[in-house]
Amino acid sequence: MKAVIPAAGFGTRFLPATKAQPKEMLPVFDKPTIQYVIEEAVASGIDDILIITGKGKRSIEDHFDKSFELEHTLKIAGKDEFLEQVQAITDLADIYYVRQKEQKGLGDAIYCAKKHVADEPFAVMLGDTITKGSMPCTKQLIDTYNKYDSSAIALERVPTEKVERYGIIDGVEIEKNTYEINKLVEKPPVSEAPSDLAIMGRYVLSPDIFDLIKETAPGVGGEIQLTDALSKLNSIYGSIFNGKTYDIGNRLEWLKTSIEFAMDDDMARDDLIQYMKNLI
Ligand code: G1P
Repeated sequence: MKAVIPAAGFGTRFLPATKAQPKEMLPVFDKPTIQYVIEEAVASGIDDILIITGKGKRSIEDHFDKSFELEHTLKIAGKDEFLEQVQAITDLADIYYVRQKEQKGLGDAIYCAKKHVADEPFAVMLGDTITKGSMPCTKQLIDTYNKYDSSAIALERVPTEKVERYGIIDGVEIEKNTYEINKLVEKPPVSEAPSDLAIMGRYVLSPDIFDLIKETAPGVGGEIQLTDALSKLNSIYGSIFNGKTYDIGNRLEWLKTSIEFAMDDDMARDDLIQYMKNLI
């Protein structure tokens, strides 16, 4: 299976940090956000990844490319640990790029993957969401896709006041934490939200979605919404992700995630706790 990572957005929720650098390259503790996403794809058994980029996103390509000068410098300096890390990034997966020429929405960004994906089911992983769980989120969705032979999306319960930030679904729980979806609405007002179950940035989709995107008119925000195209699929299932998700496009969430990930690091934990105690 191939994965598609849309990473073409302006990152307006995180300005000014994202004025001249992609939000997907903002580090969470010691790695750029998009590297966590690619590591999730690889852990889910995917090694062919298409990143949808746009203007100002060159540093994403540079990050996953080989850097002869850097490797040479690290080698001469005897910094073997860093050298290994830098080389491992290049070997993670086969990564391809295509540019979305105009920012016409998430649906349009995914449509840019049509030629690369061709006629197979594929994963969509939003470049500003990180997940953590005992089983990778995308692997969980691949299993749901295979079980029901239908597109599958990851869901998360959100507080009522936040429903208008997400795609929200209505569905019937057919087994614990799995829903047969009968309605999807992109960013509904609180009063019109059919539930508190939000689409959280991971999808495994049947290739039928491309034709459906093509016939989808601009929706919320004047953009071609993936959610609107998904609602035209004959069948689609949702799984509540058995783990934790982090929305890096939001500056406070980004900071909290960095702290949480630093707490998982043996070298950083004790210093960080002491620092936070003093600060508070
Ligand atoms: C996108 C999707 C939305 C989904 C969200 C998850 O919105 O359109 O359905 O709930 O990602 O993060 P965006 O955050 O790009 O506005």
